[in-house]
Order: sequence, then structure tokens, then C-alpha cells
Amino acid sequence: MRSLWLADRSRLTARTSLGPLSADVVVVGAGITGLITAVLLARAGKDVVVLEARSAGAVTTGNTTGKVSLLQGTMLSQIVARHGADLARDYVRGNQEGQDWLLRYCEANGVPVQREDAYTYAQSAGEVASTRAELAACRLAGLDVEWDDDAGAPFPYHGGVRLADQAQFDPMPLLDSLIGELTERGGRLVEGARVHRLSHRRGRLRLGVRTSDGEVDVDAGQCVLATGMPILDRGGFFARVKPTRSYGMAFDVPGTITRPMFISAGSPTRSVRYAPVNSGERLVVAGASHIVGRKSPTAELDELSSWVRDHYPGAEMTHQWSAQDYTPADHLPYVGPILPGDEKVFTATGFNKWGLAAGAAAALLLSARILGGRMDWGRAFAAWSPHEVTGIPTAMQANLEVAFHLAKGWVAPITRLGRAAPEEGGVVSGPPWNLEARCTIDGVQHRVSPVCPHLGGIVNWNDVSKSWECPLHGSRFAPDGTLLEGPATRGLTASS
Ligand SMILES: Cc1cc2nc3c(=O)[nH]c(=O)nc-3n(C[C@H](O)[C@H](O)[C@H](O)COP(=O)(O)OP(=O)(O)OC[C@H]3O[C@@H](n4cnc5c(N)ncnc54)[C@H](O)[C@@H]3O)c2cc1C
Ligand code: FES
Repeated sequence: MRSLWLADRSRLTARTSLGPLSADVVVVGAGITGLITAVLLARAGKDVVVLEARSAGAVTTGNTTGKVSLLQGTMLSQIVARHGADLARDYVRGNQEGQDWLLRYCEANGVPVQREDAYTYAQSAGEVASTRAELAACRLAGLDVEWDDDAGAPFPYHGGVRLADQAQFDPMPLLDSLIGELTERGGRLVEGARVHRLSHRRGRLRLGVRTSDGEVDVDAGQCVLATGMPILDRGGFFARVKPTRSYGMAFDVPGTITRPMFISAGSPTRSVRYAPVNSGERLVVAGASHIVGRKSPTAELDELSSWVRDHYPGAEMTHQWSAQDYTPADHLPYVGPILPGDEKVFTATGFNKWGLAAGAAAALLLSARILGGRMDWGRAFAAWSPHEVTGIPTAMQANLEVAFHLAKGWVAPITRLGRAAPEEGGVVSGPPWNLEARCTIDGVQHRVSPVCPHLGGIVNWNDVSKSWECPLHGSRFAPDGTLLEGPATRGLTASS
């Protein structure tokens, strides 16, 4: 289950030495957002440490489809409908600055990028209206788009919005280059360092960090939580975003692959691009999204791979992977202080599967704020602002669903009492309320408590990603209970 970008990659040496336990700014998380923020701060002379729980790019950035595009599916029609054209224009301006920064950086540092047109397209006659609505919203938001009746796609295509000259890449060489610059400028990246606690002490911050060598405290002036979902519950971001898991596949395809990047306007999502590799090219597709912990999308993935084989005869799958990103209640990312008025702890989340240009924009915004500047498009990314109010009904609906899944997680295994345990993995009930999560992987059985250490959700087994997933706020755990990602800060405990 490694992505095309992470598989077969000559791994740089793991960066594990913590060194001095103090820094001007600690950035938590070495994805695109954290590493660009760290580099920008190091350029300005700050002493920066990046603490990464796993390895750089391991969670979402290394598992993306790698499109650096201002045309982002149907994002702009949703933003215009909710917030109006002015805020949508600011969202585009932020993304434009993020994309410009990335492209300049890649060019200056020899990171390969392919410039291609991007399409949001109708895969059936029924999707033409929403695709046309995206065209109108893009124009209102200031993008120079056009309608294209024939993009030369080898799959059902009923017209689409085209934005010329966007970009795509393999995200890992970018992260390697950022790490190189960070260390040259005196910054440090420590991998295998999970932050699980943060407190304020005499005007400074104290971060509790778990490493393979044990527990340490790190002292910081300021902190940026670039962790996907913020790991601290203050700010309640876990209740304002929906964790959405999606699946990527790479295929060896005879012949030439169409050049543009495509994404369908409707469901099922078809996201398509080509990717250069050492032996030629691969076709990359993504789709089959679902809320984390609420589905094992085996049928959807079979359907996606059949779709590829139907439209790209002779295609052979070489890689399959999955990752999650966070959908904000009101369609705009949350970037800024973890609590209103807090100028010490910042966060960035809610990129809604478009966090490459937007992650770079978030880094520009956060570093500017820490250094005393501001971006005039920043209100479209604000963590706390009036735009949030428009998202309250959606957030309330999402939290009703969360409450339903909390109750269902506790009750469903008890109603199955006496029935055989699921074949590969699942939650079973012993004596009343004594639930156990059991799975067997490669002949090894694992038994752990199914109770998520974040806020007590009951995890479900995902047959496809072979992991325990919490249906409440998206924490994920390995078969043996080790924490993989999400707002939880520790793993599932051993079963009693
Ligand atoms: C399948 C898929 C395809 C996508 N395709 C695209 C695309 O084509 N174009 C696009 O623009 N966007 C795309 N996205 C979205 C984009 O990949 C993300 O928005 C972006 O990578 C987010 O980057 P990040 O740095 O904020 O988070 P991440 O890359 O997730 O980095 C966060 C890091 O924080 C670390 N961390 C978490 N908790 C802790 C802790 N307690 N202590 C220390 N470290 C911690 C994690 O290990 C992780 O490495 C896609 C997303 C998915 C799921
Ligand atoms: S992620 Fe919040 S309860 Fe599991």
C-alpha cells in the first residue's frame, strides 16, 4: 500500500537526533505545509525545529495525486455559493501565490514539474449543469477558464472547464529539497518524534514529545501545528472538519497517456493524470472517497480499476494506496491561531484534498504572521472569522452524525454477540461492554481495545487499508494498535 511517490524511493537517512531542546519556533508535522513554513522562517533567521511523528511526507503529502492546480474540482462553485465572489477571489489569490511560490522554488532547486492543462469535466449529461456552474464560478473568482467540448479524453466526457498551464509533480523531491534547505540554514528535522502535549509556561511553550529514545520536553517561543488535523482539542477543529479517505492507483499503460489533468465534477470521482517514472510513464487515478472509519470501499475500488481497464486497454496496476484529508464545514481552509487571539500556537487544516497550492499559501500566511506581516487575501483562509458562522449548520449536522456513530460503535458489536468473528478484522463483544478489536494479518492475530483514545469512539476495521479507523474524527491505527494519524495522540491499548 505505498504510493507511487513513496515506493522504491531511496530513503534519505532517518533524521532522529533532537539536539538542543529549545527553538524559536517548533513546527509539528513535515508535510508540505510544515516544511515550507519552516523554510520560510529559517530564511528569516528563526531557529526552527520540525518534529515529525513518522517520516517526512508519510501521511498525506506523500500520498496525494500531486496536482498543483487553481482549478480544483467544484471547489469554487461551492465557495461562491456559500461566501460570494469576493471571498472566492481571495481564495484564488492565495492559491495563486502558493502555486507561484512552489513553481519558483521547484525551478530554482531542480525539482521536476510538468506544466499541463487542468480540467473539471462532466462524465455524464447529468453532470453538465454542475460543470457549467463551476465555469461560471471560476470566472467570478477571476480565473481565465474556458469550456471545452472535446479534450481528447479516452473515457466518457460530456464537456469540461479548462484552465491552461497548471502543474503536477511528484511531491517527494520537493520535500527532500525543502529539508535540504532547512538544514543548510541551521534548522532541524526530527523524525519519529510525536508531540502529544503542549502547555504554556512563563510566556514560552513546553511540548511533550515521544521519541524512540523516550519522552522529552521541548521549549519553544511559538508553535505551528501543521499536522493535517490539529492534534490539540482546543479550538475544536476536530468538530469543524470531516476526515475523508481517498484511494490512489498507478497503472502501466501501453501507448501514450492523455496529457491534461482531469477530475470529474460529480460522483464517482475520477481524478486522472500521467506521471513520469524512470521506465517511462504511469497513469495515476484516484477516487472512492468516504468518511474515515465508515466504509471499506472494496466494491468502489474494483469499479475504479475496471473503469481504468475499460478505457485504457492493457492497463496493469503497479501501485495502490490511500490517504485522508479534511473537508471544512464551510468550504474554506482554517489557517491561523488555534484559539482567537493566541499568537503562540497556530494551525492549518481543512484543505479538502487541494492542499498543495493551498498548503504553500498556508505556509506563506503563517510565516508572515509569525514574522509580523500579513497577506491581503488571508481572510479566505482564516481559522476564526465570520465565514465560519456560515458553516455552523453543516458542522452541527456533521456532529449529529458523529454522535450517531459513537452510539453505533458501542452497540453494534453487542447486537452481534454470539456470531462468528469477522474473517480478517472487526470488533467483537465478550461480556457486556467488554469490546475487543481483533484482526489477523499475515497469520498474526492482534487483539486491542477498540476504544479510540481521542474521545472514545469505537474503531472499525478497513479491509482495504488494513487499519483500524475511528468513525468520529478520523484517527487511524495499525493492526497492532500503533497510532498512524488523526487527532489522537496515542495508540489503542492492549486488550484486557
Ligand atoms: C488521495 C488524495 C489525493 C490528493 N491529491 C491532491 C492533489 O492532486 N492536489 C492537491 O492540491 N491536493 C491533493 N490532496 C490534498 C493534499 O495532499 C493535502 O491537503 C496536503 O498534502 C496536506 O499537507 P499537510 O502538510 O498539511 O499535511 P500532511 O502531509 O498530512 O502532513 C502532516 C504531518 O504531520 C505529522 N504529524 C501528525 N501528528 C503529529 C504529532 N502529534 N507529532 C508530530 N508530527 C505529527 C504527520 O505524520 C504528517 O507527516 C490530496 C489528498 C488525498 C487524500
Ligand atoms: S478520532 Fe475522535 S474519538 Fe476517535
